[in-house]
Amino acid sequence: MTRLLHLSDLHFGLQRQALVEPLVDRINAAGADLVVVTGDLTHRGRSAQFAQAAAFLRRIESPLLAVPGNHDIPLYKLAERMLRPWRRWRKAIAENLEPVGQVGNLRVQGLNSVDPMAWQRGMVTPGQLARVVAGLDPACINVVALHHPMQQQPQVDKALMQGAKPALAGLEAEGAHLILTGHLHRWSIGAFQGGRGRPVLQVQAGTALCARPDDRQNEFAVLDFAGPDLLVARHVAPMDEPGFRPPQHLRFTRRGGLWRPA
Ligand SMILES: [Fe+2]
Ligand SMILES: [Fe+2]
Repeated sequence: MTRLLHLSDLHFGLQRQALVEPLVDRINAAGADLVVVTGDLTHRGRSAQFAQAAAFLRRIESPLLAVPGNHDIPLYKLAERMLRPWRRWRKAIAENLEPVGQVGNLRVQGLNSVDPMAWQRGMVTPGQLARVVAGLDPACINVVALHHPMQQQPQVDKALMQGAKPALAGLEAEGAHLILTGHLHRWSIGAFQGGRGRPVLQVQAGTALCARPDDRQNEFAVLDFAGPDLLVARHVAPMDEPGFRPPQHLRFTRRGGLWRPA
């Protein structure tokens, strides 16, 4: 069994401080083989916020893989956003904006979907897609981790990331198995059909720590891979409760390379 823990949208600077300790405890109790963080580690990309985020990540005992979110680059300092958007991320979090991790036969490719020119919307370029496709390993369960969703529920009012449709279609056609995203602060899980290929399972995490007025709860997910089976445990902490509830479980089984609800 391989265990992956998926966290997103920590938003240090606007974090729910009372949940930090319960979150660290739950993460370390899970003993994941790999923790994947899909962006928005900070709320405004400020140095002090990155310091808080980095201190939080240092307390996680599992190996880590993190990709940036749109909140991790400056919003208002236009010159810095255009000229040196990754300076603080690189100093506090990691030099590599698109890390790749592997544990057993689980291969996770990070993709940086943040576009300094379009702060909220994000983008995947054909070059990025080609690099991820070239990195898919037919002997592995291939996971792609990025901040912006590649497909959204119809009620979502934010614009879909530029390049999302061809990226999703390309990943489906080339045999990716799972896409991990965040950004919307809304949990969603499902197998979507992008048009050309096989529907790939997408986990869109909610926010693990953000305390914006719109955020109704905080949460993260633990994914256990065992042969053809995938067990997803969703850990939810409603805003009016002191910590996390016992996890809710969802089961999937992989047939012909695709996970379907078991
Ligand atoms: Fe966010
Ligand atoms: Fe975001």
